[in-house]
Amino acid sequence: MKVAVYGASGYTGRLVTAEARRRGLDVVVSGRDASRLREVAEGAEVAVADVNDAPALARAFEGCDVVIGCAGPFSHVGDPVVRAAITAGVHYVDTSAEQLFLRHVFDTYAEQAERAAVSVVPAVGFDILPGDMIAHLAGARVEPLDELTIAYQTNDFDMTRGTIRSSLQVLRDGDLAYEDGRWRSAEGLAVKRTSFTFPGQAEERLTARWPGAEIVTVPRHVRARRVEIITDAAVFGPELIALTQLPAEEGDAIIDQLPEGPSEERRPASGFTIVAEAVGVDGRRATGVVRATDIYGSAAVFTVEAARRVVAGEAKAGVLSPAQAFDSAAFLDSLAPYGVEWSVVADEK
Ligand SMILES: NC(=O)c1ccc[n+]([C@@H]2O[C@H](COP(=O)([O-])OP(=O)(O)OC[C@H]3O[C@@H](n4cnc5c(N)ncnc54)[C@H](OP(=O)(O)O)[C@@H]3O)[C@@H](O)[C@H]2O)c1
Repeated sequence: MKVAVYGASGYTGRLVTAEARRRGLDVVVSGRDASRLREVAEGAEVAVADVNDAPALARAFEGCDVVIGCAGPFSHVGDPVVRAAITAGVHYVDTSAEQLFLRHVFDTYAEQAERAAVSVVPAVGFDILPGDMIAHLAGARVEPLDELTIAYQTNDFDMTRGTIRSSLQVLRDGDLAYEDGRWRSAEGLAVKRTSFTFPGQAEERLTARWPGAEIVTVPRHVRARRVEIITDAAVFGPELIALTQLPAEEGDAIIDQLPEGPSEERRPASGFTIVAEAVGVDGRRATGVVRATDIYGSAAVFTVEAARRVVAGEAKAGVLSPAQAFDSAAFLDSLAPYGVEWSVVADEK
């Protein structure tokens, strides 16, 4: 199985490349900068292609079984990579988590991907894949839903420069809400859950709306009147808030000076808990929980596993969310050796 990692020179691209090699896959390292790619190639084929050169991108992917998109922010650089994968007739997965990019991919490429008989499964990193899947598993137990809340809590999460850039992009672009069975702008909309008790914790935590891309993916496979995504407000540290208040160019210049991401020693200390709390229209409740450690290491594992399954033919053709593409329980079960734990508890009928 031959996999092209586009953006292989970035923090996440390097982790994904290493994970793909560990799984015995044949890797093509791809991106815009030949010298940066050669630094990470370790003998692998190098395919240089700028995102503004569509034919070169498609040529870079020809002969591969799947493209893994790791170059971001995806709302800036993601679209040509998806388009080139479809043109080359190659499956596609990525580490995106930006709402408007996800909506664009679903709206623009669904039919083209089907016609080309390729599976396009964006957002298979730490967010959004586990949140999309746990919402699916909890929601299915008490559907149709009146409300679905997806709550994030992270610990020791030192974001990479790429994550900060993409998060700022999301905050600048404005986010979406899902209310009364349809998408709308979240502007001016108050978050309903301003506190949340995470599993195993005695105290409620203050929460804030999180512009999670599950808003775009989950209503495609869970029947819900309303979906809300919140996070432990602690994730909005003073540095992140200060960055959101600066003009874009000043903010970007500061980010360029930050460390690339957590060190190898520090990375495994990080962790996430995602809770999906579903309330059926009949009042029954289901709660799903998924957790893991090593946020960026996990993102690489999830991404390569998704790529492997797409090539194995598990996903149909078209643009699909992770839970639409794969059997969610089987996928999460397969991650147990990597420390992923999940459970769903539901009221009986
Ligand atoms: N969902 C998840 O779990 C998850 C996890 C990690 C990262 N991410 C996302 O993945 C993306 C990358 O994150 P990162 O931490 O790896 O960031 P990073 O270290 O800054 O790497 C960014 C990558 O994008 C490439 N790139 C940037 N602009 C480009 C352009 N105009 N044309 C071609 N390539 C371009 C860079 O290429 P050069 O090396 O040539 O500069 C580099 O390979 C971000 O959007 C981030 O939010 C998601």
